[in-house]
Amino acid sequence: MQIWAIANQKGGVGKTTSTLCLARGLAESGQRVLLIDLDPHASMTRAFNVPRHPVPSGTHELFSVGAPGLDTLARTTPIERLRLLAAQPGLATLERRSATQPGLGMALQRALAGVTQLYDYTLLDCPPTLGLLMVNALAAADCLVVPTQTDPLALHGLADMLRTAEMVETSRRRPLARFVLPTLFDKRTTLGAQSLELLHGLYAGRVWPDAVPMDARLRDARAIAANSPLSGAGADAYQQALDWLLAQPPATTPQSRAA
Ligand SMILES: Nc1ncnc2c1ncn2[C@@H]1O[C@H](COP(=O)(O)OP(=O)(O)OP(=O)(O)O)[C@@H](O)[C@H]1O
Ligand SMILES: [Mg+2]
Repeated sequence: MQIWAIANQKGGVGKTTSTLCLARGLAESGQRVLLIDLDPHASMTRAFNVPRHPVPSGTHELFSVGAPGLDTLARTTPIERLRLLAAQPGLATLERRSATQPGLGMALQRALAGVTQLYDYTLLDCPPTLGLLMVNALAAADCLVVPTQTDPLALHGLADMLRTAEMVETSRRRPLARFVLPTLFDKRTTLGAQSLELLHGLYAGRVWPDAVPMDARLRDARAIAANSPLSGAGADAYQQALDWLLAQPPATTPQSRAA
């Protein structure tokens, strides 16, 4: 099983949209996919219309002693081969517990170790904050995909995110492949094109050569999570980005030292 974390410390850069589109693409190509919503705001969970009352079981349970196994917590979705672990608002309070409960940073990795035979891919939709949930995702992941809005300010967020990934890689002593996925690209502005050029200059080889364009058909996450055909420039771009990610060689040495 391959574990991909889709993360960026900056908000609104297309993390949830990217996670959904990549997960759909993988499931539609025959892979068994587990989606884990790690964001207390639960945008992904809402996209799948999971009722909020009573509070659904899901990601929060992974951090509790004696909780049921991960696979019994995962729910089916309208998309074949795609299962979801729902997020709950209570995830936001975990940060406080982490000070008194040692080992909480590895909870996700431990839970995923029990389902390696059941899924081909696990995709982690991360919250836009560097805290316990993001640390769990980076500790567990084989690959980090950083969606990055193509505007100059967003590039600062990207640098922060890649620095964090480098620190995690050093401390866990296992390579973490990292890729940049340019999103929300507005081809009408020169700023978009300049940001893209800058991205390629700074992170050559790790940036998907194209960019996901702004596309109104990607605005409603519920439409992506439904079992209706996806079409349009945005959906096509995500399919190409997925093909590119799948063609990248796995990291065998830590990138922080290899760079
Ligand atoms: N390519 C696109 N074209 C048009 N709208 C998009 C595109 N990608 C994402 N959006 C919209 O932009 C907004 C932010 O996207 P998304 O929720 O995926 O970002 P996020 O990084 O997960 O945000 P957060 O940090 O709040 O979790 C959403 O309203 C989404 O529908
Ligand atoms: Mg999100």
